Amino acid sequence: MIDPLADLSILIRQAVTAAFGTVPESVDLVPRRSEHADYQLDAALALARTLRRSPREVATAIVAHLPPGPIIEAAAVSGPGFINLTCRAQYLATQLGRMVSEQRLGIDRAAVPQTVVVDYSSPNLAKEMHVGHLRSTIIGDCLVRTLEFLGHSVIRQNHIGDWGTPFGMLLEQMLEEGSPHGGGSVRELSTFYRAARAHFDSDPGFAERARARVVLLQRGDAQTLVLWQRLLELTTAYIATLYRRLHVRLTEQDIAGESRYNPFLESVVTELEDKHLAQTSDGAICVFPPGFSGRDGKPLPLIVRKQDGGFGYAATDLAAIKYRIEKLGARRILYVVGIPQSQHFAMVFETARLAGWASADVRLEHVAFGSVLGQDGKVLKTRAGEAISLLALIDEAVMRATGILDQASPELAATDRARIAEMVGIGAVKYADLGTDRSRDYVFQWDRMLAFDGNTAPYLMYAHARICSMLRKAGAPAPEMVRGGDAIRIEAPAERALALELLGFPATVTALGESLQPHRLCQQLFQTATAFTRFYDTCPVLAAEPAVRASRLALSALTARILACGLDLLGIGAPELM
Ligand code: ARG
Repeated sequence: MIDPLADLSILIRQAVTAAFGTVPESVDLVPRRSEHADYQLDAALALARTLRRSPREVATAIVAHLPPGPIIEAAAVSGPGFINLTCRAQYLATQLGRMVSEQRLGIDRAAVPQTVVVDYSSPNLAKEMHVGHLRSTIIGDCLVRTLEFLGHSVIRQNHIGDWGTPFGMLLEQMLEEGSPHGGGSVRELSTFYRAARAHFDSDPGFAERARARVVLLQRGDAQTLVLWQRLLELTTAYIATLYRRLHVRLTEQDIAGESRYNPFLESVVTELEDKHLAQTSDGAICVFPPGFSGRDGKPLPLIVRKQDGGFGYAATDLAAIKYRIEKLGARRILYVVGIPQSQHFAMVFETARLAGWASADVRLEHVAFGSVLGQDGKVLKTRAGEAISLLALIDEAVMRATGILDQASPELAATDRARIAEMVGIGAVKYADLGTDRSRDYVFQWDRMLAFDGNTAPYLMYAHARICSMLRKAGAPAPEMVRGGDAIRIEAPAERALALELLGFPATVTALGESLQPHRLCQQLFQTATAFTRFYDTCPVLAAEPAVRASRLALSALTARILACGLDLLGIGAPELM
């Protein structure tokens, strides 16, 4: 693993131990990137409290015990008790040289690879996917790519909503009005869905038949299943188109919808009853996991079987969690679903623990995200107030990207332009989603996400393409072909600043596997591209004398590889021309 912060924290630990005998567990000994030096450590402030000494005194003692060696060039106490650390140029150059020669850019595979189930995308049948499903798809894809890169064995699960009460109404509508086939577009399916809904709401006789149809479906009635199958095929064909267009790693094989768990629902509920976890309440069968109560203070139920005997969303999730652990061998399960379902998942996880399906070492994580808002600050909708069509949204992104490229790069050949516009448009939409802390809502703004400056996909893609073009001019074929790691020298301040950003990449990717916060990777890439721009503006590359030129070319090529690798983990392409 290439990680200066880890190297430094080992030295710091030794120094703290030498100075004070022990290191309290709670104190973080990892320094941070800083404007004042290469890195800054604030541990003396925390240590001062436990040691009952002044922070400056503690900092001075640590500095006195930091052994001189090949890594640290200087350590100095600053301000109230910070420690500023400067690395030796040779150390930075050696680490960068290792990075250049490693295909994985210095990122280790997990020492203990795990089977990780990632539940994401998960749209509902016969309905247009909405922006929330798009967020889930984009975030989930990034996590899948990252965990796979880190060496875990990832099982993708597209938990589509293909079961339950709405299907009674949809199937009954199909019987009465004919199937919504035609071109099979989901627009048509949405119209069909709304017609069925309206019919259901206005005609009690129809509503009655729809309810009976649900029962037929759940019993496996042959004619009903044929109709249901047809609806399923129409939807999967549509989502497959969308996934291909988005370049996400989801295929038809990854679909494991709610219906998949139908055969297990009965026994899951029985098991919960046998274990005295479920009880009858108001005619429904419920689990009351401890620690959950409503506004009135009463325990909150997780309804596993409804009054009418049907199983709902919670029962399916319980069956799914058991299946994923017992049959798929999951040691970690990620649910990439919006914040409104937080309580649902917390209750499901708790129930799975109580039932003994999820032992303490199985990690269950709700990777929650906020809403996508329109410029008006409300949840993104079309003017007509409907959910936005995702395919239309992607088309618009690509159209806008084409317009921008027409202006910015008129010299591009038409075929390149079309291909690159597709990457830029889709990349911009994905990056807008991944670049902000996922737990926050974000405002969907075309101009901002497509801007060539700022923390955006086009900015990073352009930085990458610019390096590729410089390497072409230098006669070096592609970034990964540029060797010469031994040639790297870190002299100018802008070289050092770039070096520190490049060396931060491996730890950032590794941390993403734990934090599941893609915006931190985005931030790292943005800092890298910014440091590169400063380097490029102040350090001539092609015109430099041969030894400096070789070093700067190697640094540039490494920057391009890191940007491309990082963008790839985000699910975004990095064209070599732009
Ligand atoms: N289909 C659900 C929805 O649209 C999301 C499913 C999430 N996954 C799960 N295991 N419940 O809200």
